[in-house]
Amino acid sequence: MCVAVGECFDVEIERILPGGVGLAHAAGKTVFVSLAAPGDTVRVQVEREQGNILFASVVEVLTPSPVRIDPPCPYFGRCGGCDFQQLTYEAQLAAKAEIITDCLQRIARLDHVPEIAVHPSPKTWRYRVRATWQIDQDQQRIGYYERGSRRVCDVADCAVLMPQLQETLECVRTTDWTDFPPDLKHLDAVAGDNGVSLSPEFAEFYTNELSLRVGDEVYRYNAESFFQINPALVGEMIAFALNDVRGATALDLYCGVGLFTLPLARRFEKVAGVEANSKAVRFARRNVEHAQLGNVRVVNANVSDWIRSTARAVDFVLLDPPRAGAESVVIKGILNLRPERISYVSCDPATLARDLKKLIAGGYAIEAIRGFDLFPQTHHVETVVLLRRLS
Ligand SMILES: C[S@@+](CC[C@H](N)C(=O)[O-])C[C@H]1O[C@@H](n2cnc3c(N)ncnc32)[C@H](O)[C@@H]1O
Repeated sequence: MCVAVGECFDVEIERILPGGVGLAHAAGKTVFVSLAAPGDTVRVQVEREQGNILFASVVEVLTPSPVRIDPPCPYFGRCGGCDFQQLTYEAQLAAKAEIITDCLQRIARLDHVPEIAVHPSPKTWRYRVRATWQIDQDQQRIGYYERGSRRVCDVADCAVLMPQLQETLECVRTTDWTDFPPDLKHLDAVAGDNGVSLSPEFAEFYTNELSLRVGDEVYRYNAESFFQINPALVGEMIAFALNDVRGATALDLYCGVGLFTLPLARRFEKVAGVEANSKAVRFARRNVEHAQLGNVRVVNANVSDWIRSTARAVDFVLLDPPRAGAESVVIKGILNLRPERISYVSCDPATLARDLKKLIAGGYAIEAIRGFDLFPQTHHVETVVLLRRLS
């Protein structure tokens, strides 16, 4: 059989791969099928070809997998936001564990990957406290990019937004189009215990300062600084990442508004947080001050620049970089600091695995790994890895 772009054929989905696509094989080629369930038999259409890989979409489910369900959201398939709604929640968690395992085997080249547990989210819908809404003023659409495109999918109700944020989306959508700044292309929105913050400000929407309690700590932030999407799971994630660490000195690299900095400051004599976004740094310093912690320094710097000029050894490093992972110079810098223990918090298992390979080659061993499902209904997963220096 020879297959070309536009043609249809039948395949069985073997498993879900990093990136969230289903894996199948046909005509001597590897087939990546979007929005599939493991165990499905589906008729697919080829959308594009790259080397030996065919990228395809489902045109008909011939025999549904036992873990396939009807996606409840009317925008599913068109909206680029969620790509796991076709799976039961248990199957979503299993696929995420497999995605982490796959990256650790294939990219980090670990001989033995322990069984990975993915901590479930208490809420699988209406959990998101943060979103970016795309705006197409010509077409008068507000929502998210469509799958594989820059067209805006007009979304009136997003089922993963927490109720306060959904209400704000509805208010934004009923605002007169003449009140929108002419060049406004997207809006960042975040919710807290005391309201919603939007950036940029316009009409009656403000970049309010918010606060949120996580465990014993209170964090202030707004729509211009990063905050984790699913706070319901964040307490457990912090507890796992910090485990039983204590000592003299700790570093919190890519610290944001200080999510890990505050609990670290209760366990170490001295803590330094490093963050590039000056607005997040301002919140981090205020969060430290309100918590009355006198042992913390928050540095406004790019981690790769800062770590080059830092020579002092530390006991513990926590790093939580963006999706691209840590720059090579950052990994080298951490190895030079020779911390006894490292916790790596990551939202991308592939870049995590790339960086773990270097840390392991530099003399560290993995002590524990756990996934945290901060992003139900999508293939994304947060992973925390605890490492210890071998000598
Ligand atoms: C995944 S967030 C983690 C923030 C924080 N640890 C938390 O959990 O809330 C990554 C953070 O790294 C910051 N960042 C991105 N690139 C950076 C860099 N090269 N140097 C310093 N900070 C950076 C971002 O502004 C963001 O606040």
